[in-house]
Order: sequence, then C-alpha cells, then structure tokens
Amino acid sequence: MDLYEYQAKDLFAAHGVPVLPGRTVETADDAKAAASELGTAVVVKAQVKTGGRGKAGGVKLAQTPDEAKEKAEAILGLDIKGHTVHRVLVTEASDIAEEYYFSFLLDRSNRTFLAMCSAEGGMEIEELAVERPEALARIPIDAIAGVDKAKADEIVAAGKIPAAVADQAADVIVKLWDTFVAEDATLVEVNPLVRDPEGKVIALDGKVTLDENAEFRHSEHKGLVDERTENPLEAKAKAKGLNYVKLDDGQVGIIGNGAGLVMSTLDVVAYAGEKHGNVKPANFLDIGGGASADIMAAGLDVILGDDDVKSVFVNVFGGITSCDAVANGIVEALKILGDGATKPLVVRLDGNSVEEGRKILADANHPLVTVVGTMDDAADKAAELAAGA
Ligand SMILES: Nc1ncnc2c1ncn2[C@@H]1O[C@H](COP(=O)(O)OP(=O)(O)OP(=O)(O)O)[C@@H](O)[C@H]1O
Ligand SMILES: [Mg+2]
Repeated sequence: MDLYEYQAKDLFAAHGVPVLPGRTVETADDAKAAASELGTAVVVKAQVKTGGRGKAGGVKLAQTPDEAKEKAEAILGLDIKGHTVHRVLVTEASDIAEEYYFSFLLDRSNRTFLAMCSAEGGMEIEELAVERPEALARIPIDAIAGVDKAKADEIVAAGKIPAAVADQAADVIVKLWDTFVAEDATLVEVNPLVRDPEGKVIALDGKVTLDENAEFRHSEHKGLVDERTENPLEAKAKAKGLNYVKLDDGQVGIIGNGAGLVMSTLDVVAYAGEKHGNVKPANFLDIGGGASADIMAAGLDVILGDDDVKSVFVNVFGGITSCDAVANGIVEALKILGDGATKPLVVRLDGNSVEEGRKILADANHPLVTVVGTMDDAADKAAELAAGA
C-alpha cells in the first residue's frame, strides 16, 4: 500500500526523522486557518499517490494565510496524472541551501535491500538517474546486518553528501532504516532531504510503500487506508479474505484455485479472446485450496458485481479438494446467489474425482452453467459468450 506524503511524514516523525510541522486539510478555508496557526510562510502541497506533483503545479509557496487559501483553491480538484487532489498538506516553508536524495527499497532482482543516495536531489532526480547514473549511489543492504551508524556513514560518503552535514545525514538514515524495518515498508524515499541555511537536515518530502503481506502485524496501519481511492470490488473481496485483483479493459471474469493456474488462465483467455473481438480477462481471483461453497459464492458474488464482466470462467484443478467438492460448491453457490447470478458460467474441471464433479454439474443442469472438457476450449467458450453478450 502506498501512503500519502503526510502519512509518510507522520511515520518519519514517530521514528525521530526530522520533518516540519504541518496540517492536512480538504478546503481552502481550512488551509488559511492552518497557515495562520503555523504562523510562518507555508508550502501548500497536493496529497496524491503519484510523483511529479511539483512539476504539475501541485506544490506552491504562500507567504500569508490569504495566499495559502488562494494556492489551496488552485490545487484542490487538480488532476495530477489521473489522481484528483482531495487534500492538501499545509506545512512550514523551509529555506533550502541544498537538496539531497535518499531512499531504501526492496531490490527484488538482487534479492536484497538497496539504499540510494545522492547529493543532487530534487525534482530532476529521474533525469539524473538516466543521464548521470554514477551521481546516484546504490549500496546493497544486508537484511540481517541492517543499517548501523557505520553503514550509514558509508552510504553518505558514496552519495557525496557534503562533509559539514555528513554526520547528521547518517543519523537520519539510521532512523529511516528503523522506519523501514519497524513499519514493514518496501520503500522509504525522501526527495528532497534538505540542508537548511542553519545547517539542519530535514525531510521535506516522503514516500512510503508498506508491505501488505505484513498487514497482520500492523493493526495500527488500518487507519492509513483511504477508502475514497480504493477499488470497491477489491475492498469487498479483501473483506471476504479473497485474493482478487481487478484488471482493466476485461470482460471475462476468472475464478481458479491456485495462483499459477489462475495466471495461466488469464493467458489462455487473453489468447482465445483475440478471435472474439479482443475480449480480455477482467480479474485475477484465486480461491485457493479449500474451494468450499461459501468461498465459491463469495468469489462469484464479487465477480458478478463487476459491470464489466459478461461471462465467467471457473477453472479448477482438483487436488486435495477434489472436483466433486468444487462442483458441489458451485451448485450451492448458485443457490446462495439465486437471482444475483445473472451471467453465463463456463466451468472446466480436471484432476481428482473429475468424473464425479462433472456428473454433479450435469445433474444440477443449471441454465447458466456450461461444462467444457479442456482449458483451451473453455477459454474459447467463455470469450465467445462475453463477446456475444
Ligand atoms: N516545506 C517546504 N519548504 C520549502 N520548499 C519546499 C517544501 N516542500 C517542498 N518544497 C520544494 O518543492 C519541491 C517539490 O516538493 P516535493 O518534493 O514535496 O514534491 P515533488 O517532488 O514534486 O513530488 P513527488 O516527490 O511526489 O514527485 C521540493 O524539491 C522543494 O524544492
Ligand atoms: Mg519530492
């Protein structure tokens, strides 16, 4: 889960990383009030989960509360790369002597963590990374050893942070590592990390991505979810404990057991769909090993609630949960859903007790259900039904 800047900076502050005071507001009048309260020049900053806010006109300096109101009016409602600005952060303005770049991230290809550091931070960091990659130091971090002061000193030196603030910057980096580990983040980024004219090092911006796999040990992170920007179907699936991802531009709903099988189902449906006016899979949904009637009903309920879906492909390989149990699950699920089930279902069963499973579906003779023998033929049938709908 990506966090907003203000949420990231709240986490930073909790771990002792220096940030400036600020308040998040949703109206221009509240922005004015927040600026009065701070009693300094402020910066009004769009809170959206995308980069390049400054360049898009989403970060503006205001000398007075009235000016803060004016700037907030201009920023609220702005569309930044498809994200509407509903909130702005009103924060103390800092004088800036220098801007640095710093981040910790999960480096999947090298199976480790990585620190990136540069004395040349700021809004042009993407260009810097492409044009002069040597100016952006990359230091692998051993997950067990972590980052102590000595390691932070090494990072600061590699990033060519000026000697005058090296010690302070290293302290901040140790605290950012504490944040990264304690909050179970996969990204902690500060751009810019600034030195102000008095020589103080401050995090002026913050980006944090939390690892959703670690959600279970962070009940305190629940409040960070922004329901306004969450996909409602994904939220519903999550509430039911389903592993569901909505896909853009698709018409064939997909249910399978096992992530690998579902992934390959997406492929065969996309391939079969080419012959039927480019029909595509509409989602990923893995109902896992124990495909009970309740889980099947919950899955179908989510998928049928997607207006984009025109047909559903249920692709199950019977293993520990045999095909007869899954077939019973489908029949029961359709009973539970009753009139809520409105779209054609193509079912392909294989594996353990496949004959019994097919017989159960044949006996039930549900008008919406078509049983097809192979995965390719079933994908073709589902695509054809979606195209004809
Ligand atoms: N509190 C502040 N005081 C003074 N200047 C600021 C402050 N916050 C941001 N700035 C200036 O505005 C620039 C852009 O701000 P920021 O880094 O927060 O947004 P951004 O980089 O455009 O957004 P993103 O990092 O999401 O792409 C900074 O590089 C800095 O020069
Ligand atoms: Mg930034």
